Amino acid sequence: MESCHKFSFPLLTLLSLYMSFFVAHAEGSLTPRPFNNKITAGFVFGDSTVDPGNNNYVKTLFRGNFLPYGKDFRDHVPTGRFTNGKLSTDLIVSYLGIKEYLPPYLDPNLSIEELMTGVSFASAGSGFDPLTPQISSVISLPKQLEYFKEYKKRLQSAIGNRRTEAIIKEAVFLISCGTNDFVVNYFTLPIRRKSYTVSAYQQFILQSFKKVLQDLSDEGARRIAVTGLPPMGCLPAVITLYSKNAIFERGCIENLSQVGMEYNQMLQNELNSMQGRLAHLDAKITYVDIFTPLVDMIQGLGKHDFDEVSHGCCGSGYLEAGFLCNPESFVCNDASKYVFFDSIHPTEKTYINLFMASRPVIDSLIQD
Ligand SMILES: *[C@@H]1O[C@H](CO)[C@@H](O)[C@H](O)[C@H]1NC(C)=O
Ligand SMILES: *[C@@H]1O[C@H](CO)[C@@H](O)[C@H](O)[C@H]1NC(C)=O
Repeated sequence: MESCHKFSFPLLTLLSLYMSFFVAHAEGSLTPRPFNNKITAGFVFGDSTVDPGNNNYVKTLFRGNFLPYGKDFRDHVPTGRFTNGKLSTDLIVSYLGIKEYLPPYLDPNLSIEELMTGVSFASAGSGFDPLTPQISSVISLPKQLEYFKEYKKRLQSAIGNRRTEAIIKEAVFLISCGTNDFVVNYFTLPIRRKSYTVSAYQQFILQSFKKVLQDLSDEGARRIAVTGLPPMGCLPAVITLYSKNAIFERGCIENLSQVGMEYNQMLQNELNSMQGRLAHLDAKITYVDIFTPLVDMIQGLGKHDFDEVSHGCCGSGYLEAGFLCNPESFVCNDASKYVFFDSIHPTEKTYINLFMASRPVIDSLIQD
């Protein structure tokens, strides 16, 4: 008995060493270091899909800095990310070997090192249509670009013009935006629908996006990724609002997803022609498809095995998001079984899958 105890201790130690090696190794294989380690920083613009907490510093109801948001984040801290854990942009900067989390620019405590490796300017509730961020009192895309210019000045005064330029030149930029324009602004509030047909509105959003892309390019961005729209008709809140019998019929609203699919095609055509026009600047612009991988997850295609695809993990799952998903809400046990964390935003598990699906595109973006 005694000798058994004697030996069990080192054996357990060995086993736990082995386990921690194995776990570290497994994590490593999820995010192997890519081949170009010249990449200096990540800069992100857009909406709640990529806002790590900028809205905490803005007077708006569109916040996620309370539980259950962040319940599976480091130390279970709600940061303002509208999900239970990390966002895809955290996974991307960690894949690029830059850092583990991409912080919000408006955090007043960012160190110079943190600034040098990149930040997110994104703001939950924002959109390309100038009316969209007005409705939710959040940071518009032009304002996010202004913050980027301010950021450059701050960095220049800290480390000089040349080093700042070198960082921008080898940084990865990501724009993820547009869902709020269609879902909140166009479909749900009837303001824009009175004066725009669907196709006129798609054109309007595309023009507004082009302006953002041009401004970023003018500011020195050379590696830019742009995500398309998700299957908007599959968001649990959209199903609830647009199904005839939302309790029993939880299928996607196909014609709303269709609007996103058409827009994505227009966006890809635009990106291709922009790529041609900016070729002389040695710039790369790539499209990130989130539509197809999300449809695969929702339809259970491939190796995805989510238990719940049409309700969020938080609350009833029908309508709760933002302040309606709060510490008083019911929360599911295992968010990784859900595609959506609240009735609009993906779970960390979904973000991991989206990141994995986007890796070939990221790899091509960071190549020389
Ligand atoms: C910034 O840091 C100070 C000192 O460490 C701390 O008291 C303060 O709460 C921090 N502010 C934020 C917004 O994190
Ligand atoms: C989608 O279909 C519904 C019902 O058939 C219709 O009322 C709605 O106008 C359609 N929306 C779009 C954007 O085509």
